[in-house]
Amino acid sequence: MPAYAILGAQWGDEGKGKIIDYLSRRADIVARFSGGNNAGHTVINDLGDFSLHLVPCGIFSDGVMNVIGNGVVVDPDVLIEEMETLKQAGIDVSRSLMVSERAHLIMPYHVMLDTLAESERGDFAIGTTGKGIGPAYSDKTSRTGIRAADLLDLEGLRHRLEEVLPFVNRVLTKVYEVDSVSIDYILDKSRMWKDFLGPLIKPVGRYVNEVLDSGGTVVLEGAQGILLDLDHGTYPFVTSSSPTIGGASTGLAIQPKQITNVLGIFKAYNTRVGSGPFPTELFDDVGEGIRTIAKEFGTTTGRARRVGWFDGVLASYSNRINGYTSAVITRLDVLDHLDSLNICVGYKLDGDILDEPPGGVTALEKCLPVYETLDGWDVPTAGISNISELPTNARIYVDRLEELIGCPVDIISTGPHRDHTIMVRDILIS
Ligand code: IMP
Repeated sequence: MPAYAILGAQWGDEGKGKIIDYLSRRADIVARFSGGNNAGHTVINDLGDFSLHLVPCGIFSDGVMNVIGNGVVVDPDVLIEEMETLKQAGIDVSRSLMVSERAHLIMPYHVMLDTLAESERGDFAIGTTGKGIGPAYSDKTSRTGIRAADLLDLEGLRHRLEEVLPFVNRVLTKVYEVDSVSIDYILDKSRMWKDFLGPLIKPVGRYVNEVLDSGGTVVLEGAQGILLDLDHGTYPFVTSSSPTIGGASTGLAIQPKQITNVLGIFKAYNTRVGSGPFPTELFDDVGEGIRTIAKEFGTTTGRARRVGWFDGVLASYSNRINGYTSAVITRLDVLDHLDSLNICVGYKLDGDILDEPPGGVTALEKCLPVYETLDGWDVPTAGISNISELPTNARIYVDRLEELIGCPVDIISTGPHRDHTIMVRDILIS
């Protein structure tokens, strides 16, 4: 003990990568527990600028073991490519990375099915990343998935493919009218995947528990954010996994009581990629300004992110589901140029004022934000690392976010580098 969960508290892209990199310097393990290469975690440190999609962000810290848990869906080609890129940057991944034998694999046909299903949805498209995430998790729940352990037994895998591939091929050829996928093609790839990844495939649940039991520190690296959670997000405009605290436990096989610290990572404003309701979305020059200054374009897909004011209703809901012990506010410096800022403190729906988002997506689409307006700050916050240097109005803004979230803001990020970080309260792993 302890395990620190670092969770996306909005729609993803909150800046988790930087915070995980910052905290992982004192961890024994950094472990991913959900999602796949739909995630894009940006880390900027002395070794360079990196965008990680599957490899956990602890890979840059010496002596840290990086674990891909059973709750993650792994595209082997993407993982191998990412490992090669890191190797070229001088980071030897092979001795500090493990993949759960129970993690499900994203097969080439999952990627095809993701794209085909999205075009079939037309105007109702979710705006997925097209990485095969949904189809891989669907197969997991339908009990037709392929797991990392299957790569270690290629004869067994052949039998498994003989069982599942005919149905996949019927869908590909009869429903979508595209070419089928052959067993030999998948097996050839699997042989190559086994050679490369085989030594990393391990019973990681046991390993993580042993480290926790012996007093080690584990950072649980969340991907995406609670509002994209399959159960608690803005369904159906969500991803197919559980980026919430429950997912941290099931996605790594660790006991909830071992998670002593739950950090909710909030951007100082809101963003969203893909379709779905976004009550505080900005369609004006203010939104465009934030998008341009903050370079709000997806790390994985390059798509422009939708931008809006901080939503206190969703922030409080997020805290209710995840029970944060600390909130982290990132990208405060992006708001430095604004004369005034709005914060959403309630929703108006059919004459009522709501303090919690409605469960139905159409109701949420109809919600109108109730705003409180605060003054901007005249001194930039960019790069500040000491709370005493934070301009008064920026402090007032953060204090109001803290009230709305309902838990202490312990870290404020004022820029992309490790040093651009204010530790309001020292929660660093000791
Ligand atoms: P999928 O996860 O690719 O199936 O995409 C489902 C929805 O989640 C889409 O709206 C994506 O844009 C969104 N999404 C998935 N991963 C991320 C992420 O890491 N950051 C932000 N949005 C994401």
